Amino acid sequence: MITVENLVKVYGDVRALDGLDLKVPKSVVYGFLGPNGAGKSTTILSLLGLVFPREGRIELLGEEVYQNGKFNEDKLVKAKAKIGYMPEHATLWEFLTPLQTLDVIGKAFKIPKAERERRSEELLKLVNLWDVRNKKVGKFSKGMRQRLLLAQALINDPELLILDEPMTGLDPRGIAEFKDIIREQRKAGKTVFFSSHILAHVEEVCDTVGVIVKGKLRLEDSIENIKREFLRKAGYTIIIETNRPVDWSSAGWSVIPLGGNRYRVVAENDIREELHDFVASQGAKILTMQVKEPSLEEIFLRIIE
Ligand SMILES: Nc1ncnc2c1ncn2[C@@H]1O[C@H](COP(=O)(O)OP(=O)(O)OP(=O)(O)O)[C@@H](O)[C@H]1O
Ligand SMILES: [Mg+2]
Repeated sequence: MITVENLVKVYGDVRALDGLDLKVPKSVVYGFLGPNGAGKSTTILSLLGLVFPREGRIELLGEEVYQNGKFNEDKLVKAKAKIGYMPEHATLWEFLTPLQTLDVIGKAFKIPKAERERRSEELLKLVNLWDVRNKKVGKFSKGMRQRLLLAQALINDPELLILDEPMTGLDPRGIAEFKDIIREQRKAGKTVFFSSHILAHVEEVCDTVGVIVKGKLRLEDSIENIKREFLRKAGYTIIIETNRPVDWSSAGWSVIPLGGNRYRVVAENDIREELHDFVASQGAKILTMQVKEPSLEEIFLRIIE
């Protein structure tokens, strides 16, 4: 659905994209994760022809929209007719209602009136704004605005949804509802590409996560694999409490005494059994044991570092 090769975008002396490669297959939910300023929005704006990259190649829905330093306008228009886009800092018309908003956008896509009305109703129900369909957007909360923007992005029944930080500003319930809508899109065979700087937003809902740091893709894998790999690298931290002091000088692990008979043991792999044996060989017994895995947030911070 999306192929990006060696994309470079320079703003003055900032290399916002520094040879970015990206491949998003059809019918997946792809979480595009990165810290602030990593180049997420620049990537999305480049895909849509809204900023001009310096070099590289972009293919969207099989159309080669950018190559040799220029966009092919015909191909871009063709691809964009099948794309729904939710910008990072979108403005809504404050004096229009949700129904009127979708009508205007539907007209822009040249959707016939009856179809436009049917689709508007379906989408406003989907994003839970049907009850306020005739209220002016000016008074809407951040969450309501985000949901209207999503409905707007879906008006043309797109094959590819590109969303820039769609869950920012939503409360936990709003996030859960948003994830449900994304899952439904995938079930319908759609492809979703969305950016976030918050790991929890991509968890549960993404098939694949790509991490962009300083304009380059640093890592791309399933959340499970990312977690497993980093767990392996980060090692295991085991906190134990023994019934009496233990002399660790002949043990092969790094051990930090925590006071009382509590110790923090850090090892490269799962040493729980060996730990039992070692403590027993010292004539002591383990009373409690706690294994600490790094949280996804910690893993993310390590990738960025
Ligand atoms: N119009 C611009 N002019 C100059 N520099 C820009 C412009 N837009 C972005 N940049 C710079 O390019 C880099 C990438 O910015 P971008 O907005 O793509 O990051 P992002 O990953 O979307 O960040 P955020 O999480 O804050 O939205 C940053 O260093 C940013 O300051
Ligand atoms: Mg951004």
